[in-house]
Amino acid sequence: MTEQELKHLLQSMSLEEKVGQMVQVTGAFLEEDAVITGPAADAGLELSDCKLAGSILGIAGAKRLRKIQERYMEEHPHHIPLLMMADVIHGYRTVFPIPLALGASFHPELVEKAMTMAAAEAASAGLHVTFSPMTDLVRDPRWGRVLESFGESPWLDARMAEAYVRGYQGPDNDLSRPGRLSACDKHFVGYGAPVAGREYNHAELSEHTLREFHLPAKIAAIRAGTACVMPAFQSLNGVPCTASEKIVRNLLRDELGFEGVTISDWSAVGELVAQGAAENTREAAKLAIEAGIDIDMMSVCYARELKGLVESGEVEERLVDEAVWRILTLKNRLGLFEDPFHGAGVQEEKRTVLCEKHRDLARSLVAESVILLKNEDAVLPLDSGSRTAFIGPYVDSTDTCGSWAIFQNREDTVTLRRGVTEGGYGANAVFCHGCDVLENTRVLGFGVEEVFGQSENRDEWIREALQAAKEADRVVMALGEHTLQSGEAASRGDITIPHQQMELLRQISAVNPNVVTVVYSGRPLDLREVSACSKAVLAVFLPGTMGGAGIADVLFGRTSPGGRVSISFPWSVAQVPVYHDDYTTGRPYDPAGAEQKFVSRYLDMPNEPLYSFGYGLTYGIFRYSPVRLSAGSMGQGQILTASVTVKNEGSMAAKETVQLYLRDEKGTTVRPRRELKGVKCLYLQPGEEGEAVFEITEDLLKIWDKHMNFLAEPGWFTIYVGGDSRTENSARFRYEG
Ligand code: NOJ
Repeated sequence: MTEQELKHLLQSMSLEEKVGQMVQVTGAFLEEDAVITGPAADAGLELSDCKLAGSILGIAGAKRLRKIQERYMEEHPHHIPLLMMADVIHGYRTVFPIPLALGASFHPELVEKAMTMAAAEAASAGLHVTFSPMTDLVRDPRWGRVLESFGESPWLDARMAEAYVRGYQGPDNDLSRPGRLSACDKHFVGYGAPVAGREYNHAELSEHTLREFHLPAKIAAIRAGTACVMPAFQSLNGVPCTASEKIVRNLLRDELGFEGVTISDWSAVGELVAQGAAENTREAAKLAIEAGIDIDMMSVCYARELKGLVESGEVEERLVDEAVWRILTLKNRLGLFEDPFHGAGVQEEKRTVLCEKHRDLARSLVAESVILLKNEDAVLPLDSGSRTAFIGPYVDSTDTCGSWAIFQNREDTVTLRRGVTEGGYGANAVFCHGCDVLENTRVLGFGVEEVFGQSENRDEWIREALQAAKEADRVVMALGEHTLQSGEAASRGDITIPHQQMELLRQISAVNPNVVTVVYSGRPLDLREVSACSKAVLAVFLPGTMGGAGIADVLFGRTSPGGRVSISFPWSVAQVPVYHDDYTTGRPYDPAGAEQKFVSRYLDMPNEPLYSFGYGLTYGIFRYSPVRLSAGSMGQGQILTASVTVKNEGSMAAKETVQLYLRDEKGTTVRPRRELKGVKCLYLQPGEEGEAVFEITEDLLKIWDKHMNFLAEPGWFTIYVGGDSRTENSARFRYEG
């Protein structure tokens, strides 16, 4: 449709129809035999509120969505197509490792490829918009949605944000092409910093912290062209984001230049009442539209109140028109007025979902993202000639995709046992269940309460596991959190492995010292005891459809583990938040120095996490040259290069994740001890050398100064280049300004 035609369409729509475009409901409510039950019914939503809704969410499948679209368009007064949205967070049917693991790959190019595939699958199944990426910076592993984040570094978060948006929308941002999805960056802003890590809790961020740490990835997603943005549920510095003109209209739109569609989070407009920000749904609707929320997801506020608010003059119709214009523009960019199905169809869906190419990339991304945290006596890689006992509840589990993989089919998931046997590694392997993931625990899933009781087979499982461990040369323990213990509404105060699994590990390690523990989790856990009981520890997070295959490849040395810690694994939850780019203090603690009293430290635990940012072992042995700088100083607009030569002196091919950190030695605002500012992945054969070259631009040096200007301040900088955030391989230069 031309812009002119679109304008005519908008002008010809009734107020009721326009308001409809701003309403989003669950897809099932637009199906032929729809009934409204559950929380939506409790909130008072009725089918009549949904009739003109301009978008739906939460369901997929080409046949199902085509049917809904056909029926809806036929009945719609202007035959305007529906927008179909859903949470495709790390894959549609081919589920890639969780975003936290993708962050650990430190490899945005591969992540972009994966999201291109996710988009192709989801679009073939009828979806137009995905509520992804989640670019909330997270430093508190108690928060369950840490699994959806890319970790603790603003720089890495920003690169992953770009990769996700480019993957979904294509490098040219042409949404009309088949296989493209519109991205929706979320949540704007501060949702990743709930006080005390408790889900939906308010966030308190100073202007400085917000801009320095939490906004860079949002800005990156906007610059990459994200078509939608979802304002956050929670309040930031006292005002709910959904009702904040300052956050949505002033910051997101006016300052950051976002011109696309804003969608509230699920029932967030209605929740303004519970938050005490609005007296009733009418006031909530008024606050939200004034703040700049275009679409009200799953609350009755816009559907019930907007028309009346405009008719009474309390809300200007101009605000409705602006929002509807943005929504229609998105539909037009997707080409829905020409093809309301956007290329979706049963044949296309069959051809695309879970195709070999997608499964292959998912498998290599597992190897790219698992982190080898410990490998004493080079117990890994395993030799398939020796006897290996695989023990634990994750040996046969297909529940390894995480709670956001809502379109997965559990049967598609390759378990660890299947990965080992089908990978050809299983000649001398035995497999035992050992124990359940949880016992005597109550966990709430999506609307379901699951109570995990004590199993009758427990003693038998343990006996069998101990016997197998005694007879084996090595034991691989497959342990971890339950998938319902991470994700939305899954904050935990105790971030350890469930106790009966720990008990099993203790008993097994007492009969066989050669234990390799594979840890499944949606967050960095406190792994102190796991590490003490194991010679090797491999963190695999929630590895997705091809998890078992990718993990087996790493365990048996077909591939070297490629992941690095993207969020610090705390020594104890009591250190939280603990991260690599915290600010320097006037009384820094030097763990290598003599006894110190009046310094910034804990008396009863280290300052440093158990596994620091950027850390991860491989099967290679890498030697770094000193850092070479192209010059000792740089002036305005100039670029320096920092380079290192890296040699693989080991006997196996491996990926080395070369990281560049920057330390601004003096600033008008306090500066982080060091900050990640660059990554190069080198894949080196034994004996091979590679070079990593980084450009240091003025932009990389910019900070928020004491007057809240974003600029590079003259002075000395230290560059560190190495294999983790604690490297001392460094060089200095001066920025002259
Ligand atoms: C609530 C979550 O916070 C948001 O991220 C998600 O996109 C919506 N629900 C829709 O499922």
